[in-house]
Amino acid sequence: MASSERQGGIHLPSVNGKTRILGVFGFPVEHSLSPAMHNAAIAALGFNYLYIPFSVLPEDIGPAIRSIVSLGIIGVNLTIPHKERVLPFLDRIAPEALAVGAVNTVHNDKGQLVGYNTDGEGFAGPLKALCYELAGKRAVVMGAGGAARSVVFRLVRENAAVTLVNRTLSRANRLAEEARSAVAGAQVDCLSFTDLAGLREALAGAELLVNTTSVGMSPHDNDMPPIPPESLHPALLVYDLIYSPRETRLLAVARAAGCKTLNGVGMLVYQGAAAFEIWTSQRPPIDVMQAAVERQLAAAGNQ
Ligand code: ATR
Repeated sequence: MASSERQGGIHLPSVNGKTRILGVFGFPVEHSLSPAMHNAAIAALGFNYLYIPFSVLPEDIGPAIRSIVSLGIIGVNLTIPHKERVLPFLDRIAPEALAVGAVNTVHNDKGQLVGYNTDGEGFAGPLKALCYELAGKRAVVMGAGGAARSVVFRLVRENAAVTLVNRTLSRANRLAEEARSAVAGAQVDCLSFTDLAGLREALAGAELLVNTTSVGMSPHDNDMPPIPPESLHPALLVYDLIYSPRETRLLAVARAAGCKTLNGVGMLVYQGAAAFEIWTSQRPPIDVMQAAVERQLAAAGNQ
């Protein structure tokens, strides 16, 4: 059944006794693009599901997550600040989520709560769509926080060599060590942003540059990560996980240098599509989800 119907001149969601619930737990959750993205996919497929944002305080994640079973909710996404805190409350955790130490998708599998992390698949999805092969590539990844973890684990698993660049070198070293012990043969080395010579050399030999830091995110649109702009070259694909603004200063500079560029909209859509498939066993329409995200961003003034 379609997810909305016209009645007396207004659109009503087609909620009935058989409607199944999906959602996102976050705090804050008001700016999440996931409800629009998932409800668009639900409508396109004609499923009787509804995807709802739940504002869950950090200290309430335990009871909230267990309520999924008692309320018969099919599954939820998790966003800030729940991705790491949720682990003790789950019955099972998929290997990638366990390795990364964070869960962004929970599935109620016949009363068992299973945690997944689809961020790595979200990161790889737009590259696969471009037929961009990661194996054997050299990637420079900026940042060593939560977002970097999924990216680095996926890159080394796909046999790409990684140079991790972070403001705090010790944090990069820790992540590199974890990636090396999780994936046999993982090639990861680390640099600080202050090592300009090292950074120039790494960028000259790289095919992929990924920004996982928040530098350049709205409202700080004029900022860019501290790399030498003259080191950007046309053989480099520059992938910024930020989607607001859709073209960060880093991407604008990269485009001017002749690089191919990707923003974070694709990663958002592909991580959502992977979650949707876990919950429903159905691959959702990527183009519909992407259009819904673009509409939301445009409505929020991020043209
Ligand atoms: P997320 O989960 O979004 O990755 P995070 O865990 O707070 O967020 O990590 C943010 C990343 O952006 C870190 O790598 C951080 O560098 P530090 O480890 O040195 O803190 C990086 N970052 C944030 N602001 C930065 C800035 N102004 N310059 C350089 N790096 C910055």
